[in-house]
Amino acid sequence: MRPGETFPFFTPSVPGLEPWLKYELNTLGLKPLAEEGGFFWRGTWRDLYRANLMLRSAGRILVRMKQFTALSFAEFEAEATSLPWHWFVGGKGTSLKRAFKFKITCTKSKLYHEDALAERLGRWITEATGAGWFPGAADVDAQIFVVRGFHDKFIISADSTGEHLHRRGYRQETSKAPLRETIAASILFASGWVPAVEEGLGRGAATRLKAPTLPLLDPFCGSGTIVAEAALIARKVPPGMANPDLKPRAFAFQRWDSFEPEEFAKTVVSLQNHVLERSPVELHGTDRDEGAIKAALGNARRAGVANDVDFERRTLSEAVFPQPGYLVTNPPFGVRVSEGTDLRDLYAVLGRKVREAPETKVAWLCSEPQWKAATGESWSEAARFPNGGLDLTLLQKLL
Ligand SMILES: C[S@@+](CC[C@H](N)C(=O)[O-])C[C@H]1O[C@@H](n2cnc3c(N)ncnc32)[C@H](O)[C@@H]1O
Repeated sequence: MRPGETFPFFTPSVPGLEPWLKYELNTLGLKPLAEEGGFFWRGTWRDLYRANLMLRSAGRILVRMKQFTALSFAEFEAEATSLPWHWFVGGKGTSLKRAFKFKITCTKSKLYHEDALAERLGRWITEATGAGWFPGAADVDAQIFVVRGFHDKFIISADSTGEHLHRRGYRQETSKAPLRETIAASILFASGWVPAVEEGLGRGAATRLKAPTLPLLDPFCGSGTIVAEAALIARKVPPGMANPDLKPRAFAFQRWDSFEPEEFAKTVVSLQNHVLERSPVELHGTDRDEGAIKAALGNARRAGVANDVDFERRTLSEAVFPQPGYLVTNPPFGVRVSEGTDLRDLYAVLGRKVREAPETKVAWLCSEPQWKAATGESWSEAARFPNGGLDLTLLQKLL
Protein backbone atom coordinates (compact mmCIF):
# COMPACT_ATOMS: atom_id res chain seq x y z
CA MET A 1 0.00 0.00 0.00
CA ARG A 2 1.38 3.39 -0.99
CA PRO A 3 0.53 6.67 0.77
CA GLY A 4 -2.45 8.27 -0.94
CA GLU A 5 -3.41 5.02 -2.67
CA THR A 6 -7.12 4.75 -3.35
CA PHE A 7 -9.40 1.76 -2.89
CA PRO A 8 -12.88 0.82 -4.13
CA PHE A 9 -15.71 1.25 -1.62
CA PHE A 10 -19.44 0.61 -1.62
CA THR A 11 -22.04 2.21 0.62
CA PRO A 12 -25.41 0.41 0.64
CA SER A 13 -28.53 2.57 0.73
CA VAL A 14 -32.06 2.06 2.02
CA PRO A 15 -34.09 1.75 -1.23
CA GLY A 16 -35.86 5.07 -1.81
CA LEU A 17 -33.42 7.12 0.28
CA GLU A 18 -30.58 7.11 -2.28
CA PRO A 19 -30.71 10.86 -3.12
CA TRP A 20 -29.78 11.83 0.43
CA LEU A 21 -26.96 9.33 0.77
CA LYS A 22 -25.62 10.63 -2.54
CA TYR A 23 -25.99 14.18 -1.21
CA GLU A 24 -23.97 13.25 1.87
CA LEU A 25 -21.24 11.46 -0.09
CA ASN A 26 -21.01 14.58 -2.25
CA THR A 27 -20.59 16.83 0.78
CA LEU A 28 -17.60 14.68 1.75
CA GLY A 29 -16.05 15.35 -1.65
CA LEU A 30 -16.33 11.70 -2.67
CA LYS A 31 -17.60 10.90 -6.14
CA PRO A 32 -20.48 8.45 -5.74
CA LEU A 33 -21.54 6.30 -8.68
CA ALA A 34 -25.03 4.81 -8.42
CA GLU A 35 -25.15 1.02 -8.53
CA GLU A 36 -27.83 -1.51 -7.65
CA GLY A 37 -28.43 -1.11 -3.89
CA GLY A 38 -26.12 1.82 -3.17
CA PHE A 39 -23.10 3.86 -4.23
CA PHE A 40 -19.64 2.92 -5.40
CA TRP A 41 -16.80 5.38 -4.78
CA ARG A 42 -13.02 5.37 -4.64
CA GLY A 43 -11.03 6.90 -1.81
CA THR A 44 -8.06 6.66 0.50
CA TRP A 45 -8.12 4.97 3.91
CA ARG A 46 -8.52 8.49 5.33
CA ASP A 47 -11.65 8.98 3.21
CA LEU A 48 -12.92 5.70 4.62
CA TYR A 49 -12.32 6.93 8.20
CA ARG A 50 -14.08 10.23 7.45
CA ALA A 51 -17.03 8.53 5.77
CA ASN A 52 -17.55 6.10 8.66
CA LEU A 53 -17.34 8.93 11.19
CA MET A 54 -19.47 11.41 9.25
CA LEU A 55 -22.16 9.70 7.16
CA ARG A 56 -25.50 10.18 8.91
CA SER A 57 -27.78 8.27 6.55
CA ALA A 58 -25.58 5.21 5.80
CA GLY A 59 -25.57 1.91 7.68
CA ARG A 60 -22.13 0.60 6.72
CA ILE A 61 -19.26 0.94 4.26
CA LEU A 62 -17.75 -2.03 2.46
CA VAL A 63 -14.31 -2.36 0.88
CA ARG A 64 -14.83 -4.01 -2.47
CA MET A 65 -12.22 -6.76 -2.72
CA LYS A 66 -13.10 -8.33 -6.06
CA GLN A 67 -15.78 -8.79 -8.72
CA PHE A 68 -15.65 -11.87 -10.90
CA THR A 69 -17.69 -14.52 -12.68
CA ALA A 70 -17.59 -18.10 -11.39
CA LEU A 71 -19.53 -21.12 -12.59
CA SER A 72 -17.78 -23.71 -10.41
CA PHE A 73 -16.08 -23.96 -7.01
CA ALA A 74 -12.74 -24.31 -8.85
CA GLU A 75 -13.28 -20.97 -10.64
CA PHE A 76 -14.40 -19.37 -7.38
CA GLU A 77 -11.34 -20.74 -5.57
CA ALA A 78 -8.95 -19.40 -8.20
CA GLU A 79 -10.33 -15.87 -7.67
CA ALA A 80 -10.89 -15.97 -3.91
CA THR A 81 -7.53 -17.41 -2.85
CA SER A 82 -5.64 -14.54 -4.53
CA LEU A 83 -7.33 -11.88 -2.36
CA PRO A 84 -5.52 -9.98 0.44
CA TRP A 85 -7.52 -11.48 3.32
CA HIS A 86 -4.62 -10.74 5.69
CA TRP A 87 -5.36 -6.99 5.40
CA PHE A 88 -8.53 -7.56 7.37
CA VAL A 89 -7.87 -10.52 9.67
CA GLY A 90 -4.07 -10.53 10.03
CA GLY A 91 -1.63 -12.83 8.28
CA LYS A 92 0.64 -15.71 9.11
CA GLY A 93 3.54 -14.43 11.16
CA THR A 94 1.67 -11.35 12.44
CA SER A 95 0.42 -11.02 15.99
CA LEU A 96 -3.04 -10.06 14.76
CA LYS A 97 -5.41 -13.01 14.44
CA ARG A 98 -9.07 -12.25 14.11
CA ALA A 99 -12.28 -14.17 13.97
CA PHE A 100 -14.34 -13.64 10.84
CA LYS A 101 -17.80 -14.48 9.56
CA PHE A 102 -19.73 -14.24 6.31
CA LYS A 103 -22.91 -12.76 4.93
CA ILE A 104 -23.49 -14.71 1.74
CA THR A 105 -26.36 -14.50 -0.75
CA CYS A 106 -26.37 -16.37 -4.06
CA THR A 107 -29.27 -15.79 -6.43
CA LYS A 108 -29.82 -17.17 -9.91
CA SER A 109 -26.29 -18.64 -9.89
CA LYS A 110 -24.83 -22.09 -10.55
CA LEU A 111 -23.10 -21.81 -7.18
CA TYR A 112 -26.30 -21.41 -5.21
CA HIS A 113 -25.38 -23.34 -2.06
CA GLU A 114 -24.45 -20.59 0.40
CA ASP A 115 -23.33 -22.88 3.24
CA ALA A 116 -21.03 -24.85 0.93
CA LEU A 117 -19.47 -21.60 -0.30
CA ALA A 118 -19.00 -20.37 3.28
CA GLU A 119 -17.41 -23.66 4.28
CA ARG A 120 -14.83 -23.50 1.47
CA LEU A 121 -14.13 -19.78 1.86
CA GLY A 122 -13.68 -20.27 5.60
CA ARG A 123 -11.11 -23.00 5.00
CA TRP A 124 -9.18 -21.00 2.37
CA ILE A 125 -9.00 -17.88 4.53
CA THR A 126 -7.91 -19.87 7.58
CA GLU A 127 -5.21 -21.63 5.55
CA ALA A 128 -3.98 -18.32 4.13
CA THR A 129 -4.02 -16.29 7.34
CA GLY A 130 -4.37 -18.50 10.39
CA ALA A 131 -7.40 -16.43 11.44
CA GLY A 132 -10.32 -18.22 13.06
CA TRP A 133 -13.61 -18.97 11.34
CA PHE A 134 -16.43 -19.71 13.71
CA PRO A 135 -19.54 -20.60 11.72
CA GLY A 136 -22.64 -19.37 13.46
CA ALA A 137 -20.66 -17.62 16.21
CA ALA A 138 -22.22 -14.42 17.52
CA ASP A 139 -18.81 -12.78 17.98
CA VAL A 140 -19.66 -9.09 17.59
CA ASP A 141 -16.02 -8.25 16.94
CA ALA A 142 -15.63 -10.78 14.12
CA GLN A 143 -14.64 -9.30 10.76
CA ILE A 144 -17.58 -9.58 8.33
CA PHE A 145 -16.97 -10.57 4.71
CA VAL A 146 -19.93 -10.00 2.40
CA VAL A 147 -20.36 -12.22 -0.66
CA ARG A 148 -23.09 -11.44 -3.18
CA GLY A 149 -23.72 -13.72 -6.15
CA PHE A 150 -26.20 -12.81 -8.87
CA HIS A 151 -26.38 -14.51 -12.28
CA ASP A 152 -22.93 -16.09 -11.59
CA LYS A 153 -21.32 -12.69 -11.00
CA PHE A 154 -19.80 -12.45 -7.54
CA ILE A 155 -18.70 -9.50 -5.45
CA ILE A 156 -16.59 -10.10 -2.35
CA SER A 157 -16.32 -7.24 0.14
CA ALA A 158 -14.93 -6.62 3.62
CA ASP A 159 -17.05 -4.65 6.08
CA SER A 160 -15.19 -1.60 7.42
CA THR A 161 -17.82 -0.48 9.93
CA GLY A 162 -18.50 -3.20 12.51
CA GLU A 163 -21.59 -2.38 14.49
CA HIS A 164 -24.21 -0.74 12.21
CA LEU A 165 -23.75 3.04 11.88
CA HIS A 166 -27.22 3.76 13.24
CA ARG A 167 -25.84 2.67 16.60
CA ARG A 168 -24.39 6.05 17.48
CA GLY A 169 -24.28 4.98 21.13
CA TYR A 170 -26.50 7.68 22.64
CA ARG A 171 -29.90 6.03 22.28
CA GLN A 172 -29.97 3.76 25.28
CA GLU A 173 -33.58 4.56 26.23
CA THR A 174 -36.38 4.13 23.74
CA SER A 175 -40.11 4.74 23.81
CA LYS A 176 -42.65 3.07 21.51
CA ALA A 177 -41.68 2.44 17.87
CA PRO A 178 -38.38 4.37 17.76
CA LEU A 179 -37.01 5.43 14.41
CA ARG A 180 -33.50 4.38 13.40
CA GLU A 181 -31.04 7.24 13.76
CA THR A 182 -29.98 6.85 10.10
CA ILE A 183 -33.60 7.13 8.91
CA ALA A 184 -34.19 10.15 11.16
CA ALA A 185 -31.16 11.85 9.57
CA SER A 186 -32.36 10.97 6.05
CA ILE A 187 -35.78 12.52 6.59
CA LEU A 188 -34.18 15.66 8.05
CA PHE A 189 -32.25 15.97 4.77
CA ALA A 190 -35.32 15.10 2.67
CA SER A 191 -37.50 17.63 4.53
CA GLY A 192 -35.38 20.53 3.28
CA TRP A 193 -34.55 21.67 6.83
CA VAL A 194 -30.85 21.16 5.93
CA PRO A 195 -30.34 23.52 2.98
CA ALA A 196 -29.45 21.58 -0.18
CA VAL A 197 -25.86 21.76 -1.36
CA GLU A 198 -24.56 21.81 -4.89
CA GLU A 199 -23.32 18.45 -6.09
CA GLY A 200 -19.68 17.75 -6.87
CA LEU A 201 -17.86 19.63 -4.12
CA GLY A 202 -14.12 19.09 -3.77
CA ARG A 203 -12.36 17.02 -1.17
CA GLY A 204 -11.97 18.25 2.41
CA ALA A 205 -15.51 19.56 2.36
CA ALA A 206 -16.16 18.67 5.99
CA THR A 207 -17.72 22.04 6.71
CA ARG A 208 -19.68 22.33 3.47
CA LEU A 209 -22.86 20.74 4.79
CA LYS A 210 -24.85 23.95 5.00
CA ALA A 211 -26.12 24.90 8.44
CA PRO A 212 -29.88 24.91 9.04
CA THR A 213 -31.26 28.39 9.66
CA LEU A 214 -34.78 27.71 10.95
CA PRO A 215 -36.12 26.22 14.21
CA LEU A 216 -37.52 22.70 14.23
CA LEU A 217 -40.22 20.85 16.15
CA ASP A 218 -41.07 17.16 16.41
CA PRO A 219 -44.51 17.08 18.13
CA PHE A 220 -44.46 13.24 18.39
CA CYS A 221 -40.84 13.10 19.54
CA GLY A 222 -40.93 9.77 21.41
CA SER A 223 -37.36 9.03 22.49
CA GLY A 224 -36.22 12.17 20.67
CA THR A 225 -34.34 10.63 17.74
CA ILE A 226 -35.27 13.25 15.12
CA VAL A 227 -34.51 16.14 17.48
CA ALA A 228 -31.20 14.63 18.65
CA GLU A 229 -30.12 13.99 15.04
CA ALA A 230 -31.13 17.56 14.17
CA ALA A 231 -28.94 18.87 17.00
CA LEU A 232 -25.97 16.81 15.80
CA ILE A 233 -26.43 18.23 12.28
CA ALA A 234 -26.89 21.81 13.53
CA ARG A 235 -23.71 21.64 15.63
CA LYS A 236 -21.74 19.69 12.98
CA VAL A 237 -21.14 16.84 15.40
CA PRO A 238 -20.12 13.76 13.35
CA PRO A 239 -22.59 10.96 14.16
CA GLY A 240 -19.66 8.66 14.97
CA MET A 241 -18.69 11.07 17.78
CA ALA A 242 -22.14 11.70 19.26
CA ASN A 243 -21.27 12.05 22.94
CA PRO A 244 -20.34 14.92 25.31
CA ASP A 245 -16.58 14.30 24.86
CA LEU A 246 -16.76 13.92 21.07
CA LYS A 247 -14.94 10.60 21.36
CA PRO A 248 -15.15 8.36 18.28
CA ARG A 249 -17.07 5.10 18.51
CA ALA A 250 -15.32 1.82 17.55
CA PHE A 251 -15.07 0.69 13.92
CA ALA A 252 -14.01 -2.61 12.33
CA PHE A 253 -11.23 -0.88 10.34
CA GLN A 254 -9.40 -0.03 13.57
CA ARG A 255 -8.48 -3.70 13.91
CA TRP A 256 -7.02 -4.08 10.41
CA ASP A 257 -3.32 -4.54 9.62
CA SER A 258 -3.57 -1.47 7.39
CA PHE A 259 -5.07 0.78 10.11
CA GLU A 260 -3.23 4.11 10.38
CA PRO A 261 -3.89 5.33 13.95
CA GLU A 262 -2.18 8.71 13.41
CA GLU A 263 -4.29 9.45 10.31
CA PHE A 264 -7.42 8.45 12.23
CA ALA A 265 -6.45 10.64 15.22
CA LYS A 266 -5.78 13.61 12.90
CA THR A 267 -9.17 13.09 11.24
CA VAL A 268 -10.91 13.01 14.62
CA VAL A 269 -9.20 16.22 15.81
CA SER A 270 -10.02 18.10 12.62
CA LEU A 271 -13.67 17.08 12.91
CA GLN A 272 -13.74 18.05 16.60
CA ASN A 273 -12.44 21.49 15.62
CA HIS A 274 -15.45 22.06 13.34
CA VAL A 275 -18.04 21.36 16.03
CA LEU A 276 -20.07 24.41 17.06
CA GLU A 277 -20.47 25.27 20.76
CA ARG A 278 -24.23 25.59 20.42
CA SER A 279 -26.94 24.91 17.86
CA PRO A 280 -27.60 28.10 15.88
CA VAL A 281 -31.33 27.24 15.78
CA GLU A 282 -33.95 26.21 18.35
CA LEU A 283 -34.83 22.51 18.45
CA HIS A 284 -37.98 21.34 20.22
CA GLY A 285 -39.51 17.96 20.93
CA THR A 286 -42.93 17.39 22.49
CA ASP A 287 -44.87 14.21 23.25
CA ARG A 288 -47.91 13.41 25.37
CA ASP A 289 -46.05 10.62 27.14
CA GLU A 290 -44.01 11.45 30.24
CA GLY A 291 -41.81 8.35 29.82
CA ALA A 292 -40.97 9.34 26.25
CA ILE A 293 -39.86 12.82 27.38
CA LYS A 294 -37.66 11.28 30.08
CA ALA A 295 -36.07 8.95 27.50
CA ALA A 296 -35.57 11.83 25.04
CA LEU A 297 -33.79 13.92 27.70
CA GLY A 298 -31.51 11.03 28.67
CA ASN A 299 -30.65 10.30 25.04
CA ALA A 300 -29.91 13.98 24.31
CA ARG A 301 -27.63 14.11 27.36
CA ARG A 302 -25.68 11.05 26.18
CA ALA A 303 -25.45 12.51 22.66
CA GLY A 304 -23.90 15.67 24.17
CA VAL A 305 -26.70 17.93 22.86
CA ALA A 306 -28.77 18.44 26.04
CA ASN A 307 -28.15 22.22 25.92
CA ASP A 308 -29.30 22.49 22.31
CA VAL A 309 -32.70 20.89 22.62
CA ASP A 310 -35.80 21.34 24.64
CA PHE A 311 -38.25 18.50 25.41
CA GLU A 312 -41.64 19.06 26.98
CA ARG A 313 -44.69 16.98 27.71
CA ARG A 314 -47.49 18.30 25.49
CA THR A 315 -50.22 16.80 23.36
CA LEU A 316 -50.34 17.60 19.65
CA SER A 317 -53.19 20.12 20.31
CA GLU A 318 -50.94 21.99 22.76
CA ALA A 319 -47.82 21.96 20.53
CA VAL A 320 -46.61 25.35 19.30
CA PHE A 321 -45.57 25.12 15.65
CA PRO A 322 -42.47 27.24 14.89
CA GLN A 323 -43.32 30.13 12.55
CA PRO A 324 -41.25 30.40 10.50
CA GLY A 325 -39.78 26.96 10.98
CA TYR A 326 -40.00 23.25 10.27
CA LEU A 327 -42.01 20.40 11.65
CA VAL A 328 -40.42 16.98 10.99
CA THR A 329 -42.05 13.99 12.62
CA ASN A 330 -43.20 10.39 12.57
CA PRO A 331 -46.65 10.25 14.14
CA PRO A 332 -48.17 7.06 15.57
CA PHE A 333 -48.96 4.60 12.77
CA GLY A 334 -51.58 2.46 14.40
CA VAL A 335 -49.53 -0.69 13.87
CA ARG A 336 -47.11 -0.47 16.71
CA VAL A 337 -48.21 2.54 18.74
CA SER A 338 -51.96 2.86 19.14
CA GLU A 339 -55.25 1.77 17.61
CA GLY A 340 -57.51 2.91 14.73
CA THR A 341 -60.43 5.22 15.39
CA ASP A 342 -58.86 7.90 17.59
CA LEU A 343 -55.88 8.00 15.21
CA ARG A 344 -58.16 9.49 12.54
CA ASP A 345 -58.99 12.29 14.98
CA LEU A 346 -55.32 12.77 15.70
CA TYR A 347 -54.54 13.22 11.99
CA ALA A 348 -57.50 15.61 11.67
CA VAL A 349 -55.91 17.70 14.46
CA LEU A 350 -52.58 17.58 12.61
CA GLY A 351 -54.30 18.93 9.47
CA ARG A 352 -56.01 21.71 11.43
CA LYS A 353 -52.75 22.74 13.17
CA VAL A 354 -50.95 22.79 9.81
CA ARG A 355 -53.62 25.14 8.38
CA GLU A 356 -53.32 27.38 11.45
CA ALA A 357 -49.53 27.65 10.99
CA PRO A 358 -48.99 28.76 7.38
CA GLU A 359 -45.34 29.69 8.10
CA THR A 360 -44.38 26.17 9.18
CA LYS A 361 -42.93 23.79 6.59
CA VAL A 362 -44.10 20.29 7.39
CA ALA A 363 -42.70 16.81 6.64
CA TRP A 364 -44.22 13.71 8.25
CA LEU A 365 -43.93 9.96 7.78
CA CYS A 366 -47.18 8.42 6.65
CA SER A 367 -47.85 4.67 6.79
CA GLU A 368 -51.28 4.54 5.14
CA PRO A 369 -53.25 6.70 2.67
CA GLN A 370 -56.17 6.93 5.15
CA TRP A 371 -54.03 9.02 7.55
CA LYS A 372 -53.09 11.38 4.74
CA ALA A 373 -56.79 11.74 3.83
CA ALA A 374 -57.72 12.31 7.49
CA THR A 375 -55.60 15.49 7.62
CA GLY A 376 -57.85 17.11 4.98
CA GLU A 377 -54.72 18.62 3.40
CA SER A 378 -52.96 18.02 0.11
CA TRP A 379 -49.37 16.79 0.35
CA SER A 380 -46.49 16.13 -2.00
CA GLU A 381 -44.41 12.97 -1.72
CA ALA A 382 -40.76 13.66 -0.85
CA ALA A 383 -39.64 10.03 -0.40
CA ARG A 384 -40.95 6.48 -0.17
CA PHE A 385 -39.05 3.67 1.54
CA PRO A 386 -39.53 0.42 3.47
CA ASN A 387 -39.08 0.50 7.24
CA GLY A 388 -39.88 -2.13 9.86
CA GLY A 389 -42.17 -4.04 7.47
CA LEU A 390 -44.10 -0.91 6.48
CA ASP A 391 -44.03 1.08 3.28
CA LEU A 392 -43.51 4.65 4.50
CA THR A 393 -44.00 7.90 2.62
CA LEU A 394 -42.48 11.19 3.67
CA LEU A 395 -45.19 13.74 2.96
CA GLN A 396 -44.38 17.35 2.62
CA LYS A 397 -46.23 20.62 2.67
CA LEU A 398 -44.18 23.48 1.39
CA LEU A 399 -45.12 27.10 1.81
C1 LIG B 1 -43.93 6.58 16.34
S1 LIG B 1 -43.71 7.27 17.92
C2 LIG B 1 -42.37 8.39 17.66
C3 LIG B 1 -41.05 7.71 17.82
C4 LIG B 1 -39.85 8.64 17.74
N1 LIG B 1 -39.65 9.17 16.40
C5 LIG B 1 -38.59 7.94 18.23
O1 LIG B 1 -37.64 7.76 17.44
O2 LIG B 1 -38.55 7.52 19.39
C6 LIG B 1 -45.10 8.32 18.13
C7 LIG B 1 -45.18 9.10 19.41
O3 LIG B 1 -46.36 9.88 19.37
C8 LIG B 1 -46.78 10.07 20.72
N2 LIG B 1 -48.22 10.51 20.68
C9 LIG B 1 -49.32 9.78 20.39
N3 LIG B 1 -50.41 10.55 20.42
C10 LIG B 1 -50.01 11.81 20.75
C11 LIG B 1 -50.68 13.06 20.92
N4 LIG B 1 -51.99 13.18 20.79
N5 LIG B 1 -49.93 14.16 21.20
C12 LIG B 1 -48.58 14.05 21.34
N6 LIG B 1 -47.90 12.88 21.21
C13 LIG B 1 -48.60 11.79 20.91
C14 LIG B 1 -46.54 8.73 21.38
O4 LIG B 1 -46.42 8.89 22.78
C15 LIG B 1 -45.25 8.29 20.69
O5 LIG B 1 -44.13 8.60 21.49
